[in-house]
Amino acid sequence: MSRIVVLVGSMRKGGNTDLLAKSFAEGAEQRNTVEVVSVADYKVNPCIGCNSCFSREGNRCVQKDDMSLIYEKLKQADVLVLASPVYFYGISAELKAIIDRLHTPMRNTFPIKKLALLLVGAASLPELFDAIKMQYQLVLNYFHLEDAGMVLVRGVKDIGDIKGSQALEEARKLGESLK
Ligand SMILES: Cc1cc2nc3c(=O)[nH]c(=O)nc-3n(C[C@H](O)[C@H](O)[C@H](O)COP(=O)(O)O)c2cc1C
Repeated sequence: MSRIVVLVGSMRKGGNTDLLAKSFAEGAEQRNTVEVVSVADYKVNPCIGCNSCFSREGNRCVQKDDMSLIYEKLKQADVLVLASPVYFYGISAELKAIIDRLHTPMRNTFPIKKLALLLVGAASLPELFDAIKMQYQLVLNYFHLEDAGMVLVRGVKDIGDIKGSQALEEARKLGESLK
């Protein structure tokens, strides 16, 4: 039984990332506690790189925004799932902002041991996910995290395009495999 936080990086509610994350969560909920956190529900500013979190009590960030709510969730998470649309071969800016705000040494208090990756993109190019997968692997290595798996979905553009796709079942199965 793990505590799983799924960060959904699309502002488009009910979009392809959202639906993929929901399928994953339905599978994962069978044996874990799962919280789906959508960037559309939180206002998180980009990191300003002041590094003052290194010296502030509790390594708190100087910025007063919704990231404080997300820090609290991550303090209780064993597994973090990153779900994003592909934007110019990267993850969305909103999800990247949350990740960058983990610059604070506070992150060392988080119990996260595993990461998983859920991605959707419109193109069907073989190399569509290469840059994100590379960054994901480097982050896994640097933080000594385990890869819990990934579901990568090509050819979904408009809202709901992912409906009926085999990828939803794949995401559900990935969720079910976690404990
Ligand atoms: C700003 C922006 C950049 C995008 N860049 C790419 C891209 O580089 N490659 C791609 O295949 N799709 C790209 N897309 C398409 C989205 O990845 C695709 O529509 C996806 O299904 C959106 O997910 P959502 O429904 O969860 O918002 C882009 C979309 C937007 C809005």
